[in-house]
Amino acid sequence: MKKDKFDEIMSAIKSTYSLPSLPEVINKINDLMDDDTVSVNYIGNLMTKDISLSAKILKIVNSPYYGFPQRIYNLNHALVLLGSNTLKSIIITSSIFDLMKDVMKGLWEHSLFCGLTAKYIAKQINNGKQIIDEDLVFSAGLLHDIGKLIIAIKFKDDFNAVIKLAQEEKKIYVEAEKEVLSVSHADVGYYLTREWNYPASICTPIRFHHEFLMLYSNENIDKNYNIKSITNNKNKLYYSKNYVIETAIINLSDILAKSLGIGFSGSIYVDEIKNEIMEVLSIDLAFLKKIIEEIYYFKDELNVFN
Ligand SMILES: [Fe+2]
Ligand SMILES: [Fe+2]
Repeated sequence: MKKDKFDEIMSAIKSTYSLPSLPEVINKINDLMDDDTVSVNYIGNLMTKDISLSAKILKIVNSPYYGFPQRIYNLNHALVLLGSNTLKSIIITSSIFDLMKDVMKGLWEHSLFCGLTAKYIAKQINNGKQIIDEDLVFSAGLLHDIGKLIIAIKFKDDFNAVIKLAQEEKKIYVEAEKEVLSVSHADVGYYLTREWNYPASICTPIRFHHEFLMLYSNENIDKNYNIKSITNNKNKLYYSKNYVIETAIINLSDILAKSLGIGFSGSIYVDEIKNEIMEVLSIDLAFLKKIIEEIYYFKDELNVFN
């Protein structure tokens, strides 16, 4: 990767908190949520200071999707029910995606559908056990293409060049991105969620959602993008082969969203579902068929989150 371009991208990522639509309170909440000693009440009280944010969270927690038996009026209660990672993802994405609606039409619907689908698939695979954290895959699904938004906002000319290249030369979107920017939206999303201190279980699927086999076979990971030297800056390894199941779920959800034509992710090309994905998830075609029938109705849920 060209160093100057990389520095440019990293500084764009670091300044993302100053995006106009991002509530100020998020920065604080983000730090607090990583601190186990801070109480849920404290975070809840901090959030009530942002009225539109509080209203949005209560609307989501009271949506039919969550289906809690009683109406929830209290933000602390919502925080307990949703879990801090889900809540953080909803706050960040709904704020950023407000901005996104004008920049990339359909990306919000695509992302939300992926989140809902990922959570549903995890639930089916779990089958009552707790093998996969359903809330974490929901967050990863919601955030998986967030890098596209950062590129669209901060590198508008490059973004347009990528679209042109992908369309005119019929290139795979991620390949076109690498040609123009040296990095893909998956890389940018990875750096961004890492910067926001998301756990490796979220950062890993975002990083590898178009390169599942690279994670699966564990080859060329460090060589390709020099990620190791970057992660060393924070002394934390943010991707891990341990999350190959979560990555397979996000890859599959992304493909299903595109195949069903729900939302728009900027590219008309649909990746094939790799055999290795089916293998890792221990699923067969009958399972896939059942999933597709069920998730199709999630499209009716999408406006609940607006
Ligand atoms: Fe993507
Ligand atoms: Fe996607």
